[in-house]
Amino acid sequence: MRLIGAASIVFVLAMAHAISGFAPAMQTELKGSSSGHDGEQTLRDGRAIFRFDTFGDEQLWTDVLRMHEAVATVNPATALAVGLKVDVDALPTPVIAALQAGQVDLTNPAVTVELLRLNAVVGVKGTVSDTGQLTKVGITCALCHSSVDDSFAPGIGKRLDGWANTDLNVGAIVALSPALDEATKAEFRTWGPGKYDPRHHAFDGTNIVPLNNPSLPIVIPSIYGLKGVGFETFTADGPISYWNSYVGVGQMGGHGNFSDPRIGLHIAQTPDLVTPKLPALLAYQLSLRAPKAPKGSFDQAAASRGKRLFRNEAGCATCHQSPNYTDVLSGPNATVPFLHDPAEVGMDPGYAARTATGKYRTTPLRGLLQHPPYFHDGSAPDLLAVVNHYDKHFGLNLTAAQKADLVEFLKSL
Ligand code: HEC
Ligand code: HEC
Repeated sequence: MRLIGAASIVFVLAMAHAISGFAPAMQTELKGSSSGHDGEQTLRDGRAIFRFDTFGDEQLWTDVLRMHEAVATVNPATALAVGLKVDVDALPTPVIAALQAGQVDLTNPAVTVELLRLNAVVGVKGTVSDTGQLTKVGITCALCHSSVDDSFAPGIGKRLDGWANTDLNVGAIVALSPALDEATKAEFRTWGPGKYDPRHHAFDGTNIVPLNNPSLPIVIPSIYGLKGVGFETFTADGPISYWNSYVGVGQMGGHGNFSDPRIGLHIAQTPDLVTPKLPALLAYQLSLRAPKAPKGSFDQAAASRGKRLFRNEAGCATCHQSPNYTDVLSGPNATVPFLHDPAEVGMDPGYAARTATGKYRTTPLRGLLQHPPYFHDGSAPDLLAVVNHYDKHFGLNLTAAQKADLVEFLKSL
């Protein structure tokens, strides 16, 4: 593979940009629950917000964290290594050809800036001046909750909205900020890929304010298959838009309002660039279906035996109830989530104690194969570890063969 000079490769990319203009993201068909033209338009709006809207969070990522300075020194190989994904549909044909021919120097930071100019880095929005300076960066929901199908190369492919980005090392990325002190950076670097701690600090529009210490990073969840689940987050702090508002304002740093007296957090900024977008964003999220387990990825006969165990001897279905495999809506009052004390399921109480409910929601089970590790803190590296956890906690005394059958059933969900 021949790498042509740094200057010329940026030229190739810049030319491609000039020739083809802005490449719009591929319009895949949108099918929502709400049919008809208005419903489809709402979904399209919601998708655009989910993928591309920073809600003005450049006020955090650019003005405070100065990430534009850091990102301009990161080459594409490093960006891919910390889990950032590239949307192949945003790349003009000449760029794809150059990549295929091995003519793009992935060790040149200027290529990262060009990819940002092309709006090709999933979940990161950059503003690039005419002279090629990165002047602003912000992030979108897609950063954490979209991946790509790797169809072009590892980390480069078609967008998979709703899939947790299990490779994304948010802590390592934020630790690049020239504005943070060494102790904070060191703490962020311990989080590792696929994890984030949304209860460690918040941004109030001006300052980063501490919330809880030390940090307790949790797994970034997949967010497909939430239709009918009712309450979101591991601790069911509210219905879906609750989190969107919490994360959009206090974590992403969007310009808007969030208030929850239960956790003593009140952020107000005018104009509110978040709240008016929540309905369309909600519609789009609820349209995201969980991926089906690929044919041949599990043993059908064993899964059928596992399903019987799940319902009967192993007692899983008392909490993981059909159709969504959760009991969060099974309480007497539909506006109050039905939850479990951490001790009841043998979970670490630390994270729940920092949330509004203090308890855990029975996680709806869907697309499990796609997003190891499991449990809110990632304490189970694989599905056998999940089954072993329950076997021990509930004293189930499952045989090795029964455990294997349960795992095959979980793989099929
Ligand atoms: C920095 C990474 C990050 C970003 C950006 C982010 N989230 Fe999340 N998201 C998380 C984490 C971590 C959780 C788990 C929080 C919890 O359960 O307490 C979560 C939880 C969720 C859930 C709940 C999933 C479930 O099973 O109940 C939804 C829905 C969601 N996010 C949607 C969004 C939307 C929409 C945006 C943009 C407004 C967004 N997120 C931005 C990290 C992120
Ligand atoms: C008493 C209620 C209860 C029972 C019984 C129960 N679960 Fe759970 N399950 C939960 C709760 C609550 C969580 C969330 C725990 C966390 O993330 O901290 C969970 C999480 C999970 C997860 C992780 C999902 C993810 O995406 O991270 C899997 C898988 C799972 N349970 C499978 C099972 C299996 C298999 C059984 C039977 C052996 C079982 N559960 C029995 C309540 C229960």
